[in-house]
Amino acid sequence: MDSSDLAQQRLAVALDFPSAALALAFVDRLDGTCRWLKIGMELYYAAGAPLVHTLRERGFEIFLDLKLHDIPNTVAGAVRSVTETGASLLTIHAGGGAAMIHAAAEAAKAPGAPHLLAVTVLTSMDAAELVGVGVSATPAEQVLRLGRLVQTASADTMGLVCSSEEVALLRTQLGPSVRLVVPGIRPAGAAVGDQRRVATPASAIAAGASMLVVGRPITQAADPAAAAQSILDEIARATV
Ligand code: C5P
Repeated sequence: MDSSDLAQQRLAVALDFPSAALALAFVDRLDGTCRWLKIGMELYYAAGAPLVHTLRERGFEIFLDLKLHDIPNTVAGAVRSVTETGASLLTIHAGGGAAMIHAAAEAAKAPGAPHLLAVTVLTSMDAAELVGVGVSATPAEQVLRLGRLVQTASADTMGLVCSSEEVALLRTQLGPSVRLVVPGIRPAGAAVGDQRRVATPASAIAAGASMLVVGRPITQAADPAAAAQSILDEIARATV
């Protein structure tokens, strides 16, 4: 795999659109630059599994960001249902606890099942928000606690979603093999929008991120293919 293929494996474009028609029109404008597309709740609830099939037929890898959080039996069933779509990555919430994480990991052992990622602390939550839900630890402490829980409960089969602020800590504490997926990425000079903790593509990769999630800097660009290519080039330069 050359460095541009490797960069394509490390970038997921967040398709935060309200309909399949708008998402597909945007995807055409990527002009073959990107391989991975992230579908979150907004688009999945509107367009569902048929859109996943359509995009897979066009050669994309699909990252379903559904952030599952329910009792173990229900989450395991959801993992089995998502397996039918052919998505390659699926998120659950680490806060669902050890039994839920374990049940999801067991369901993801089936042939063709997605690789699972556990969301640690949402990037929209700060220390005060954590106190409001009864957590007195700092965000970094809580992210590390949940990261360790996920590794134990999933027998090291699950990756993690974290902010750029915790990626170096997790990489140091949890080792080189855990997959760390980082949203909140902004190229230098790009609008931050509602994100709180942001990093450039190069700094997130240098800190130890395995994959970056980028939405608006690409979806809202006048030339999405050029914006994506510039981020891919930055990833390739930062990859050692
Ligand atoms: O447009 P932007 O680059 O901010 O999009 C980031 C994407 O990553 C959004 O789809 C958002 O839902 C997702 N995400 C996030 N923070 C998390 C988990 C997912 O921003 N902790």
